Amino acid sequence: MTPDGGGPGTVPKPQTGNARADDESATDRPSTDQSTHPAETVIESRDLDVFYGDDQALQGIDMEIPERQVTALIGPSGCGKSTFLRSINRMNDLIDVARVEGELYFHGKNVYDDDVDPVALRRKIGMVFQKPNPFPKSIFDNVAYGLKVQGKADGNLEEKVHTALERAAILDEVEDRLDESGLELSGGQQQRLCIARAIATDPEVILMDEPASALDPVATSQIEDLVEELAQEYTVVIVTHNMQQAARISDKTAVFLTGGELVEFGDTNEIFENPEHDRVEDYITGKFG
Ligand SMILES: Nc1ncnc2c1ncn2[C@@H]1O[C@H](COP(=O)(O)OP(=O)(O)OP(=O)(O)O)[C@@H](O)[C@H]1O
Ligand SMILES: [Mg+2]
Repeated sequence: MTPDGGGPGTVPKPQTGNARADDESATDRPSTDQSTHPAETVIESRDLDVFYGDDQALQGIDMEIPERQVTALIGPSGCGKSTFLRSINRMNDLIDVARVEGELYFHGKNVYDDDVDPVALRRKIGMVFQKPNPFPKSIFDNVAYGLKVQGKADGNLEEKVHTALERAAILDEVEDRLDESGLELSGGQQQRLCIARAIATDPEVILMDEPASALDPVATSQIEDLVEELAQEYTVVIVTHNMQQAARISDKTAVFLTGGELVEFGDTNEIFENPEHDRVEDYITGKFG
């Protein structure tokens, strides 16, 4: 389905605001110039099936997710988007009846191999959920928590917390009240706090399951801007029901349809402007789903 080797598949995204070259300080990873090099695949699923008991939720999913881009997962309710997202960092392990078959590679290593520690994996592949879920702790402690648990709360804890809040575009709004409860923030602020919490421990990949669907339009557009920003440093995989959002913020789009099939995967522009399958066209133009 995907042309091998990345090849012509990776159209550089138009830069929005901060071009990476102007923002060297924001990352300590080597920068890649997407205008000349195709992005590397960081996650790859091969013939991935997921079952809940006897019911099959995903069927033979093959997908290559490029590094430091936004990949959107779209499709009607129940088609398996959340299931696929959870299979990337083995969150499906936490569901008793779930069973995964096939392969899911992260940097070429199958995450379902016996020697992979799912907790360590989830440190590299963080997650943000639909409903903002800050801990009932202070704003500061929400972000510091993961660093403390991971033994990364050394002398510069405060700096790390500030950096994460800044990257999540919420520092200005909370700087003066870091000791207030995270639960006192607005929904949109809570979601950005959760994003700060997810990035504080420096993951490589951020999985987002409809992170803006519970938010008002202003908060939604802040999250969208943030997702685009984050993709300069992180690989982002985002589930959304909002077609405009997928078209606006993603580089790649995966269209799942009922039955847990991945019907089309490719450059977002192609999928939205010239989809290969009629069923995809019907879905994205709102004829069903
Ligand atoms: N914990 C679970 N136990 C049993 N079946 C489940 C579980 N979670 C999901 N499923 C089933 O797996 C299928 C895919 O569900 P999933 O939540 O992945 O869909 P989705 O595309 O994320 O839908 P939505 O857009 O509504 O969030 C559905 O048929 C659903 O009923
Ligand atoms: Mg879902």
